[in-house]
Amino acid sequence: MRKHIPILTFVFILLLQGFICYAQKKTIDQKVDSVLKMMTLDEKIGQMNQYNGPWGATGPLTNDNNLLSQIKEGKVGSMLNVTGVKRTRELQELAMQSRLKIPLLFGQDVIHGYRTIFPIPLAEAASWDMEAIERSARIAATEASAAGIHWTFAPMVDIARDPRWGRVMEGAGEDPYLGSMIAVARVKGFQGKGFGHTDAVMACAKHFAAYGAAVGGRDYNSVDMSLRQLHEVYLPPFKAAAAAGAASFMNSFNDLNGIPATGNSYLQRDILKKEWGFKGFVVSDWGSVGEMIPHGYAKDNYEAAILAANAGSDMDMESRSYIKNLAQAVKEGKVKIAVIDEAVRRLLKKKFEMGLFDDPYRFCNEEREKQQWDNQAHLHAELDIAKRSVVLLKNEQNVLPIKRSDQTIALIGPFVKAKSDNLGFWSYDWPDDSLRVVSLWEGMQKKASKGTKLLYAKGCNIIDTSSSGFEEAVEAANKADVVIMSIGEARDMSGEAKSRSNIHLPGVQEELVKAVAATGKPIIVLISAGRPLVFNTVAEKAKAILYTWWLGTKAGDAMTDILFGDYNPSGKLPMSFPITEGQIPVYYNHFNTGRPAKDDNDRFYRSAYTDLSLYPAYPFGFGLSYTHFSYSGITLNKESIKPGETLKASITVTNIGSMEGKETVQLYIRDLVGSVVRPVKELKGFQQVTLKPGESKEIYFAITANDLRFYNDKLLYKYEPGDFKLFIGTNSRDVKEADFKLIK
Ligand code: NOJ
Repeated sequence: MRKHIPILTFVFILLLQGFICYAQKKTIDQKVDSVLKMMTLDEKIGQMNQYNGPWGATGPLTNDNNLLSQIKEGKVGSMLNVTGVKRTRELQELAMQSRLKIPLLFGQDVIHGYRTIFPIPLAEAASWDMEAIERSARIAATEASAAGIHWTFAPMVDIARDPRWGRVMEGAGEDPYLGSMIAVARVKGFQGKGFGHTDAVMACAKHFAAYGAAVGGRDYNSVDMSLRQLHEVYLPPFKAAAAAGAASFMNSFNDLNGIPATGNSYLQRDILKKEWGFKGFVVSDWGSVGEMIPHGYAKDNYEAAILAANAGSDMDMESRSYIKNLAQAVKEGKVKIAVIDEAVRRLLKKKFEMGLFDDPYRFCNEEREKQQWDNQAHLHAELDIAKRSVVLLKNEQNVLPIKRSDQTIALIGPFVKAKSDNLGFWSYDWPDDSLRVVSLWEGMQKKASKGTKLLYAKGCNIIDTSSSGFEEAVEAANKADVVIMSIGEARDMSGEAKSRSNIHLPGVQEELVKAVAATGKPIIVLISAGRPLVFNTVAEKAKAILYTWWLGTKAGDAMTDILFGDYNPSGKLPMSFPITEGQIPVYYNHFNTGRPAKDDNDRFYRSAYTDLSLYPAYPFGFGLSYTHFSYSGITLNKESIKPGETLKASITVTNIGSMEGKETVQLYIRDLVGSVVRPVKELKGFQQVTLKPGESKEIYFAITANDLRFYNDKLLYKYEPGDFKLFIGTNSRDVKEADFKLIK
């Protein structure tokens, strides 16, 4: 009997905890209801209204501004682009003069850091390191919340298969599995230990949905796709973000199969709120309610407001359609009061959870803001993830890492001394950026030893067409033992409204590489960019290539550590890199088609181009190391599994080089025959392993029938018995394979 006491006590504590949780939850719901009861219709609609602040904009401004008095009248629920304790406090004080004193929510695009700028999200995705990605979001939240911000419009979880689309820089690339893992890591990072903690900000999964599939990669463009593809490729990261507790979703600018996402109740009501049971709220994208008019879906703002509210868009960002029209729409019975109440409930609930009703100024602590302004630990973490994000694409004759001493190194290119271009799009222009951002030049000067001479020539600018600096660059190269060229895209060449039809290196940078290569000196090229670029000539001329994306505040230190071998690169591409624009879209998880090609000579097959390889320049998952890894064959614990059973696949990875290194071991599966055709490979798992020279490790993957599910033609998420191939390897092309069956 005695033995049972601890168990009973344990059960009792669990029940008690459950009850407390329940009681607390109930209390918030009750509180929401009691506020709701006191609200007039206008005040309710005010909560659904979000304005841009007077200090900056991230979209086209609507001209009407008696903003401050509207806050006092309770006609504004949230503001965006208001940063800093002073400003947020000022506006919150106005909200406290409103009749019901409902606090404002301050939202902001904290996309890859606030004060400390982290690598762009696509770069971080290349780390395949969920802990590091979560840490980066955590730090961003810590800094942003200290500056009065409650809510970030991140993570952007749009799957993107088209590098012409500027917003690829903001997401996690082309793969739904990796994208889902990263979505979860970022939500966890932003929301930290949970609302109620003053360093937690609300996450916002965006843009719901399928924004990344804009036709031709042109921003804001239409999307037309099968529901099966939507569910299988584009929705999983959103579903994962919702399951991880993301407080909010943002809908998207695009129309999906003819219906603008903002007015799309299939997306917002049926899938998100009903099927996934999402308890947070949905904000429109900037002006997207009103944009349903040019879409040709709403006649005017009145109709747009009705369509959006009924479709489940709870808050209107900047279009002013709700504040101007919803009251009338309710009076005319076009929008039921229950729709308004539901939206307001969702919004108030988050304000309660964030503790803003208890203390509307709880994020307005100047002391805390100051402390977070120059946080060295954050810069250190930035450097760490920047290094993890770099991808080594080529390293002929092990030209990298370079010696630290006794040589002359020529640093050539417009990125060598670049500062803010390292920050990339969606980053802040803090006045002291020129001091904080570390350029490659500064990084190298700090680390090169005394016996090393560093030469510099810019060669050309990022964009213009002048080659007047080439001569100086060639001269510098001629004097050097080794040449490092740092080139790429300027910080505003990829991002929102930054789609490009030509994704070659801009300006005359490729010409510069050619001119310098003609000296015969070994060239190492670093490419900083916000998307996969096309750089075939560079790839041919360079002995080594490091893809450095936009690495953030400590970019130059990260690059230097990698060049000197203080960090062994470990990044893997989260997107396939096309050979040229005409190959887009190119992605690894395509279908086999009825005419699959065996190789590039098999010209009649798999819709190949006659003038291009079938394969991308660099496949998804690709990335080299300064060391080399060998893979054994795959061992399976059984040849077939039944639902409920686990297949264990193992493989031994050995470091056969001479340096410690980290490998990301990738698991892919192919379902050979299905009731709908299945991709040639789908990422289903990965593991990172660090090995010393000569060291081996057996890596295990556990696979169950659940990993084999897909959306069938009835949109049911099912597995089907049959034959499967399992692949394990270093990237999506270079893999070992084994066969197994799923039986009933
Ligand atoms: C429009 C962008 O699409 C969205 O991602 C962003 O959060 C808003 N503008 C606010 O800046």
